[in-house]
Amino acid sequence: MDSLKIKGGRPLKGEVEISGAKNAALPIMTAALLTGGTHTLCRIPNLRDIATMGRLLAHMGAEYRFENGTVTLETSRIGTREAPYDLVKTMRASVLVLGPLVARFGDAWVSLPGGCAIGARPINLHLMGLEKMGAKITLESGYVHAKANRLKGTRICFDMPTVTGTENLMMAACLAKGTTILENAAREPEIADLAQCLAAMGAKIQGAGGSIIEIQGVDSLKPIDRYAVTPDRIETGTFMAIAAVCGGDLLLKGCRPDHLDAVIAKMRDTGVDFHESKKGLRVVGPRRLVAKDIKTAPYPGFPTDMQAQFMAMMTVAKGTSIIKETIFENRYMHVAELQRMGADISIDGGNATVRGVDKLKGAPIMATDLRASASLVVAALCAKGESVIHRIYHLDRGYDHMDEKLRRIGAQVERISSS
Ligand code: EPZ
Repeated sequence: MDSLKIKGGRPLKGEVEISGAKNAALPIMTAALLTGGTHTLCRIPNLRDIATMGRLLAHMGAEYRFENGTVTLETSRIGTREAPYDLVKTMRASVLVLGPLVARFGDAWVSLPGGCAIGARPINLHLMGLEKMGAKITLESGYVHAKANRLKGTRICFDMPTVTGTENLMMAACLAKGTTILENAAREPEIADLAQCLAAMGAKIQGAGGSIIEIQGVDSLKPIDRYAVTPDRIETGTFMAIAAVCGGDLLLKGCRPDHLDAVIAKMRDTGVDFHESKKGLRVVGPRRLVAKDIKTAPYPGFPTDMQAQFMAMMTVAKGTSIIKETIFENRYMHVAELQRMGADISIDGGNATVRGVDKLKGAPIMATDLRASASLVVAALCAKGESVIHRIYHLDRGYDHMDEKLRRIGAQVERISSS
């Protein structure tokens, strides 16, 4: 298992090329199951999760190739409609094959994902929607078996916005008989990106990106033809946090600032400066941040995927910050590691109280989940001295060559390979 050795306290300045969004690429890869043929997807980030999804689709009979940011999938010969536990347990987004498989083939066997480091993460809302569309759902030895002759369009109202639940049912509805209305749908930009890709395949979708989405079922779809996924807003936000906490001056290229309104507004309040131009988004960190509170919420609120990175910023801000995580029940795994670096954080129920200290100190620390590992990178870059972040396979799941991007802006970062 690789580690990252980071020597903190260096001024960071330069350009960062933002990669395509992991959470857009994953559902769009599963959309290739909706019809046979050769699909080409562009601006796909080189990540562990993308490789895992490629392995899952290949397990089902697809031909998968990743080359310089382009994924090619040939899905005419899907033999097995099973997503096995050993793959699903490493990546919950595997559940996104469920909707497309039932829609195209009428059946699917998908391992229940089980919990993960940040919470129980059930998929009951995905299954509720498929049942309403006429699928017969049974649970057998940890697998969901979904079966339907042909899904029927209907009205589905989510108890709460679910990103992959909205994506699964939007894809299933594309080939259903009749019209489906999704209410209280998630509004994340990755959902609008998936809808745009599905529309290019011939789907009839209105309202994606809002809380009511209407899908008119069609009989067939065309393969994806060189669709370029939207930039990764969480990678963008992570580099904003890096500039913020290191007094850096970064130009983020190829990003979509309009996908980060809540994050930019909050960071401006802490003293970070933003300048948008044709070249990209320039982010300038202050000499010292001012502590501000956050409460995570579904899009367009402050994203839960930026909570850990913002907490790292607040550990060295002037004042005290109250952080409320409302989406996942256990998304504070980074706290213990930040405390090892001298952060003053206390947890009370769902809230974290962060009292800013003058300086963090480098230390050996452990990554526990994807965004927690990003938070440790932010902290290590501003800490005094050297940190070694262990188990950075968590980071590699969602950040494309993060160490190389950091070195290009002046960070002293070295990847230590366990082999
Ligand atoms: C997606 O996960 C993202 N993953 C997550 O990003 C992100 O943190 C999350 O949305 C919230 O924005 C992908 O897009 C691949 P949810 P998802 O369903 O879809 C509850 C990252 O770091 N819920 O929107 O699994 C659930 O427990 C990852 O890139 C149910 O109760 O999240 C949670 O409390 C981490 N029943 C809330 O809804 C369901 O059937 C939101 O979860 C589904 C969800």
